[in-house]
Amino acid sequence: MMHVSLRQLRTFEAVARLRSFSRAAEEMHVTQPTVSKQIRLLHDEVGLPLIEQIGKKVFLTQAGEQLYTTCADWLETWGRFEQTIADLKGVKQGRLRISAVTTTKYFMPRILGPFCSTYPGIDIALEVINRDRLLDRLARNQDDLYIMGVPPEGLDIECEPFMENPLVVLAPVAHPMARRKRIPFADLANEPFVVREHGSGTRLTVERIFQAHNIPLRIRMELGSNEAIKQAVAGGLGLALLSQSTLNPDLDPAQKEITVLNVQGFPIKRSWYVVYTKNKKLSVVANTFLEFLKAHVALLGPRH
Ligand code: PGA
Repeated sequence: MMHVSLRQLRTFEAVARLRSFSRAAEEMHVTQPTVSKQIRLLHDEVGLPLIEQIGKKVFLTQAGEQLYTTCADWLETWGRFEQTIADLKGVKQGRLRISAVTTTKYFMPRILGPFCSTYPGIDIALEVINRDRLLDRLARNQDDLYIMGVPPEGLDIECEPFMENPLVVLAPVAHPMARRKRIPFADLANEPFVVREHGSGTRLTVERIFQAHNIPLRIRMELGSNEAIKQAVAGGLGLALLSQSTLNPDLDPAQKEITVLNVQGFPIKRSWYVVYTKNKKLSVVANTFLEFLKAHVALLGPRH
């Protein structure tokens, strides 16, 4: 029988997920030698190498992949046990794990702030990642709730829309189209675009829209951040299709240099969804957040 500790498994899971000893150490608030020691002990106990390091890169061996899957299941089961205990001890305390796509960073903190003040006993672990990485976490059942704009098809999930998520076309203010009304979508065929990275929900939506119109998407530049895209549009590198949630005139100086084009069919109506696995029994904490989300979003005002 192998003797492994919960701490070793948690450490291994973090190294395998982040593919980095130093980032795992940072996340776990321990030193890197502590992480290396835990992994060495686990190697010795399993009797096979789990991780290979080439230069700074971390790779999982076949045994490591197996252990990673086992760890994810096991940590999920343990998390559920901890939550059940918290639920039994009294409601509204414990840990809430949420994964949210990058673009939600413009409004999630404004929802989580008041939620945390209302329920000080609830800790939030929020992962802000792009859609592909979020789907990976959903498949591994790593969180209680997932917030995204383009829920996947064909999975056994519940998707509840909770807020509008219109998609707009952005251009620099001095762009010749900026003063035109009801621009036909086909006119965008001649324009270069700045787009999000592959794996982003925004990118997927943009590609689907161009495909549906049978118009080629001319990509001038690909950037992994909405903020960088707005700067690129302001700098005249091209147009962009982004969620209206990324626009915050009060906080963003680049905003004065960009404008929303009046293109036919835009803004495209979409929603933000909260998603969870259908057969998962939500914890009291997750249900509390769902209720809060529905009640609070109604108060966020017309811009959302
Ligand atoms: P993204 O997702 O931030 O990964 O682009 C946005 C969305 O799903 O609409």
